[in-house]
Amino acid sequence: MSSQKERLWWEREDLCYKDGHLFFSGESVTDLIGLTGTPAFFYTGKRILQNIERLHTALDQLESHKIFYAIKANRFAPLLTHIKDTGGCGVDVCSPNELLHAFSCGFIPNEISYTANSMTDEELKLLANNPDVVLNCDSLSTIRRLGKFCSHRKIGIRVNPAMGIGYRDNETLKYSGDKTTKFGIYREQFKAALQLAAENHFIVDTIHFHTGCGYLNNQLSIFSEILEATQWFLDNVKDLAFVNLGGGLGVPHDCDDEALNLDAWVSVINTHFDGKGITICVESGDYIVKDSGILVLEVNTVEKKRNTDFVGVNGGFNLAIEPTFYGLPCEPVVHRQKTDLMKPVTIVGNINESLDVWKDNFPMPDQIKEGDPLVFINAGGYASSMMSNHCMRGVVSENLLI
Ligand SMILES: Cc1ncc(COP(=O)(O)O)c(C=O)c1O
Repeated sequence: MSSQKERLWWEREDLCYKDGHLFFSGESVTDLIGLTGTPAFFYTGKRILQNIERLHTALDQLESHKIFYAIKANRFAPLLTHIKDTGGCGVDVCSPNELLHAFSCGFIPNEISYTANSMTDEELKLLANNPDVVLNCDSLSTIRRLGKFCSHRKIGIRVNPAMGIGYRDNETLKYSGDKTTKFGIYREQFKAALQLAAENHFIVDTIHFHTGCGYLNNQLSIFSEILEATQWFLDNVKDLAFVNLGGGLGVPHDCDDEALNLDAWVSVINTHFDGKGITICVESGDYIVKDSGILVLEVNTVEKKRNTDFVGVNGGFNLAIEPTFYGLPCEPVVHRQKTDLMKPVTIVGNINESLDVWKDNFPMPDQIKEGDPLVFINAGGYASSMMSNHCMRGVVSENLLI
């Protein structure tokens, strides 16, 4: 078995070992948890801003663009306020409470897009009262019932191009595809949607689609096919000013993944939209926050059962459900650089569910012991925001480092 001193796939300037100790955002992880205890999420504001800046720089190659950060990925108020103050982007919300939360963090209506499904009349009334919020309607029912509360409003229509995209082509991460989904209006109902909009004197100025999550370079050809499939919708909208490509841009999850090449991504977009005078909008969540966060737990149980070496920690899948939901790889990282022999272990949480397994057969230092911190990277997106209090073990601190 090996000792590992070389740079690991996830290491970068603000997340790396220094003199053998794990540092995050310039602080030693041991010092950080000395202040907060565990379980604890830490987010780095600098990384979030770098991610937004990288997106802006790539999108600057287009005629015009807007970024709406999808707060469903992480709605921690200090993080949102930080994005509001310094990010140069708006936010996408998907429920009344998210809308009010965005307001309370300083975003004003025209900086907010609203993309939801199965909306209530109350929700539509709230949106009728906030005409500057950019509203993407995803069903005929939404357009029809919105008409009860307002008219002459600009709206977007979320369409479903019947093609999906996802991390490593994972079907469960696709929002549209072979299987009929609730997301957006299909081609065969699109003209009826435009008709309903016209009857209510709505101006359709946006076509929106979000077809899946986590895509990387290997999926760019599918991304291009999806953009091609949406052209028909665009061609049928006379007041079109915006095309919202949704979110879905992914980040590497293990050593086999390569970071998304944003220049290649933008050149796909340009191939389909250049010269059309359209503003391209994106609604990224993961790309902006996922790699900005870590979850720090503590090992409390090291024990062999039959042939399996278990490492039990003080937090379970209720704190970060995506690996279990979607089978996304998650990477446990030790706080001291591995210098000793490695052995395969099974890392488990503290929730009474058979699926509460962080990692099976994962190489860990032979000397890992009870009381050691254990860090999970890529915990900035869809971890705390999807968290539950199952087994009443949902107590965790969240901390923004800026
Ligand atoms: C409509 C919509 N927009 C944006 C997003 C953000 O996606 P991601 O975090 O993959 O960028 C989602 C995620 O579910 C979504 O449903």
